[in-house]
Amino acid sequence: MQSVLITGASSGIGAAFARALAARGASLILVARRRDRLDSLAAELEAAHGVTISVLAHDLASPKAGAHLRAAVEAAGVPVTGVINNAGFGTFGEFIGEDAERLAREIAVDVSAPVQISSAFLPGLVAAGSGFVINVASMAAYAPTPRMAVYGAAKAFVLDFTEALWAETRASGVTVFAVSPGATSTEFNAVVGTDDATSGARMRTPENVVATALAHLERRNPGPSVIDGAGNRFAASAGRLLSRRATAAAMHRLTDPVRRARAASATSAASAGL
Ligand SMILES: NC(=O)c1ccc[n+]([C@@H]2O[C@H](COP(=O)([O-])OP(=O)(O)OC[C@H]3O[C@@H](n4cnc5c(N)ncnc54)[C@H](OP(=O)(O)O)[C@@H]3O)[C@@H](O)[C@H]2O)c1
Repeated sequence: MQSVLITGASSGIGAAFARALAARGASLILVARRRDRLDSLAAELEAAHGVTISVLAHDLASPKAGAHLRAAVEAAGVPVTGVINNAGFGTFGEFIGEDAERLAREIAVDVSAPVQISSAFLPGLVAAGSGFVINVASMAAYAPTPRMAVYGAAKAFVLDFTEALWAETRASGVTVFAVSPGATSTEFNAVVGTDDATSGARMRTPENVVATALAHLERRNPGPSVIDGAGNRFAASAGRLLSRRATAAAMHRLTDPVRRARAASATSAASAGL
């Protein structure tokens, strides 16, 4: 029986992973800071599917997140057959002027935690010769992201790190890959503090992202990474045709809030027949 640890399960994509896996009969270990959210999701899933759900309220920005989670699941006697490193958040704005402490927390949650949690659980999975690690990257991993410089770099790290682990573990019986969502309707923008991070993009749902990841997991020979959504896959391929200079400059123009506000008001004026 599967027993899957999911970080960032209190909302969005993580909660959607929890619902999809519980519906398939998996036991779950749900991790995030908001215990009330995790407790109510656990109660919902236990009642609906008769599965066992454990809740670990933990701030993944704190040091040694991986060792803490492994000690907690060992103390509870819960086996782990799969890990989904999903927790993450971003910051929108020019780098100069950003709060350095928030950026340090962002790097801790988006970069250090997946590394430490993979380090804590992957050896046991490899020893067992089965199981999986899914790391949630982003379309932001595929190009420099001005005004989200740290977030994009963090997700590029997650993508490269995961693809390297895929190569190192591919003969082990353990499946390791990254899933990259594009703009997806979750609490992500509320945490970023602006819609500018995703404005103008066609939003996908958390369930879309989870379906893409679980379909990839079930493939006979899954590759090191998968992008959610045909439009996002096209954008990633098209981006490879441009120089780094052209990509960075284009992304800087695309993420300009003033330009976006002008485009949005032109669209609403046009749709109002003005
Ligand atoms: N939505 C998008 O457009 C989009 C696009 C590309 C990639 N992604 C990635 O998808 C993943 C899931 O994000 P989402 O879109 O589902 O956003 P979300 O709804 O804001 O969910 C983020 C999750 O991360 C958890 N988290 C944040 N900081 C944490 C911390 N310090 N310790 C423990 N848990 C923490 C949150 O739980 P608590 O607040 O309860 O701790 C929450 O459960 C992230 O890695 C994000 O970067 C999202």
